[in-house]
Amino acid sequence: MSAQAHALAKSRYDDATTATFAADVLSGLTAQPKRLPPKYFYDATGSALFEEITRLPEYYPTRTELGILGERSAEIAALIPNGAALIEFGAGATTKARLLLASGAFGAYVPVDISGEFLNAQASQLRADLPELPVYPVTADFTASFVLPKPVQAMPKAGFFPGSTIGNFEPHEAALFLRSIRAILGRDAWLIVGVDLEKDERILAAAYNDAAGVTARFDLNLLARINHELGGTFDLDAFRHRAIYNRERHRIEMHLISRKAQEVRVEGRRIAFHDGETIHTENSYKYSLERFATLARGAGWTPHASWTDRDVTFSVHALRAG
Ligand code: TRP
Repeated sequence: MSAQAHALAKSRYDDATTATFAADVLSGLTAQPKRLPPKYFYDATGSALFEEITRLPEYYPTRTELGILGERSAEIAALIPNGAALIEFGAGATTKARLLLASGAFGAYVPVDISGEFLNAQASQLRADLPELPVYPVTADFTASFVLPKPVQAMPKAGFFPGSTIGNFEPHEAALFLRSIRAILGRDAWLIVGVDLEKDERILAAAYNDAAGVTARFDLNLLARINHELGGTFDLDAFRHRAIYNRERHRIEMHLISRKAQEVRVEGRRIAFHDGETIHTENSYKYSLERFATLARGAGWTPHASWTDRDVTFSVHALRAG
């Protein structure tokens, strides 16, 4: 493609992406109650803020999961056949995968992520550190179906889905997702999945309402993005972040709450807020070991083993297809 054709194709792609973003935002903000789709959290600023969240003292999941994987990686890797491809869904930093890769004889590593640039940078770094290991990054939305790279198709397969990202799906969507990765990975596959557990509500609330306000900045960044990319007029100081635990539904809900009655314009539309009205931005479902095992069974997986930290705050599950 010529440079000019490339620029044109890119601008058309950007236009289509912006149009989808605009349509999703308007449909969410005109719904009752108001909501915004969490997938738009992760622009460059959002991704950097999320990295910061994972290092917060109150945000226990990342550190706890790393602890479990660090302690149990040999045991986990021993379940997986030699020469298997490790396929990670939504690979950000490769820190967690490296613990497994260092403990087993894997035939390849396939990180799948929607953000191609970050993914390729991580892949080059990993190739430099583990020159024997073939790395085949796949740029794709892992919630949609995608094709595994040719060289790994004949290998045994192990999926890896850490970070309790499964908890950001509605339970019925989580089941559909588990079913779809079962189809992508095929018979005899393994799936290693990290799942955050129900616990004292104060610990949960603190993890998502950190004292330094990083999660608040992460949540409010969604409004900043609407301002930058869709010409929105959100006054970021006129909204506050609040995460609450919904006990009946076993989930943390993230909300942006209007501090006053106000009107905001987005793409030429007026959106009215009353004082205290919320925009629901994300859920993070929490499971018990039993409830997660039941969800997995219902999606065609057989729970084989699970591990937790000593205080049973976070879990890692090994599931077998079939
Ligand atoms: N899946 C993790 C969780 O729910 C990470 C995460 C996703 C997150 N979105 C978030 C953490 C928003 C804080 C805020 O905990």
